[in-house]
Amino acid sequence: MIELFAEIDAAVRIGLPERARRPIGIIGAGAIVDVAHLPAYRKAGLEVVAITDLDPAKAADLARRHGIETVSDSAAAMLGDPRIEVIDIAVTAGAQPGLALAAIESGRPVLAQKPFAPDVSTGQRVVTLAAEHGVPIAVNQQLRFDEGIAAARRMVELGWIGEITAMSIMVDIRTDFFGGWPWMRELDRVEITYHSIHYHDVIRWFLGEPSTVFCAAGRLPEQAGRGETRTISTYLYDSGVRAIVHANHDNTHGDNSATFRIDGTAGAIRGTLGLLYDYPHGRPDTLELHSTELATDGWLPYPITGRWIPDAFAGPMCSLLSHLADGTPLRSSGADNLGTLRLIEALYTSIDEARAVHL
Ligand SMILES: NC(=O)c1ccc[n+]([C@@H]2O[C@H](COP(=O)([O-])OP(=O)(O)OC[C@H]3O[C@@H](n4cnc5c(N)ncnc54)[C@H](O)[C@@H]3O)[C@@H](O)[C@H]2O)c1
Repeated sequence: MIELFAEIDAAVRIGLPERARRPIGIIGAGAIVDVAHLPAYRKAGLEVVAITDLDPAKAADLARRHGIETVSDSAAAMLGDPRIEVIDIAVTAGAQPGLALAAIESGRPVLAQKPFAPDVSTGQRVVTLAAEHGVPIAVNQQLRFDEGIAAARRMVELGWIGEITAMSIMVDIRTDFFGGWPWMRELDRVEITYHSIHYHDVIRWFLGEPSTVFCAAGRLPEQAGRGETRTISTYLYDSGVRAIVHANHDNTHGDNSATFRIDGTAGAIRGTLGLLYDYPHGRPDTLELHSTELATDGWLPYPITGRWIPDAFAGPMCSLLSHLADGTPLRSSGADNLGTLRLIEALYTSIDEARAVHL
């Protein structure tokens, strides 16, 4: 039975042929670049040649600690550097579209952190400009490359659980949004935009666009910021499939939990998102399969060796570089991500108007 898993392992492995490597410039020297992008890129053997940040001391610190040759004076200076072929953007979300537009105008392919735009029309403007210039834009929805999630997706593709009937992602953790990211204090929209956007994107990846969604949001009375810190979203599909995302960031009781489950007509897959048990270090995911197709005789564990941080973070950049090298389709393109932005907009409309929203 275990030999069947070789096919899953081959499908989820993140790698890149030597000839596909290109010099990368990173705009943004914040926490996520430090703990996730740079360690992942080093592990994958990618070539980061320059970094820049509005705060030059942060860029210099990361350059020194991660062995990056050049600290560019500004994003404009980076885009004027002919050595740099690919731009990786990971800054405060509001600043991302302007930087993406400038990078595209310079003819550079772009990987932008999520959310790559604050609304669908701005996202559409970025995607349209990229198409006009003939340069790819990818979005860093790296949960699509997380080993447990990617393995589950491949098991579904292989028909091991039959047709999906339901999917759930249930997260109870403590995230200090307003202490960790002080710029979030002024935002009206937090949890979905900055965290569970990953879950909503993954549900779209597995199930496509829902016909109707409903979302309820909550927050703590004494919290430092305005935005929501817990959400419950439900999805209805015309086929009868149902999905739910529950994300609570106010669990101060130490019993973090982050689970997902996919039910099908011939089995089920269940797992945990290891990262969220001890962010940002975490542990590998767990994944188990129960299949009448394979006759697993109960829950069969699939061995996961990678982590969401850093390993999954190599995925979006390797996908972009592979696309540039040989046209391999992007796993998370800007055009596809407009669907995730649309979905998120619908969820916020549902919260604001306390009603189901038809897409
Ligand atoms: N799992 C994930 O995918 C994940 C996790 C955390 C953060 N993020 C995203 O990554 C981005 C950065 O998050 P972070 O945690 O590093 O935040 P952070 O606050 O630690 O760092 C943001 C950095 O961006 C810099 N910056 C802002 N505007 C800039 C500009 N115009 N030019 C150059 N630098 C600029 C700031 O000076 C700061 O150093 C956000 O968009 C966030 O949503 C993604």
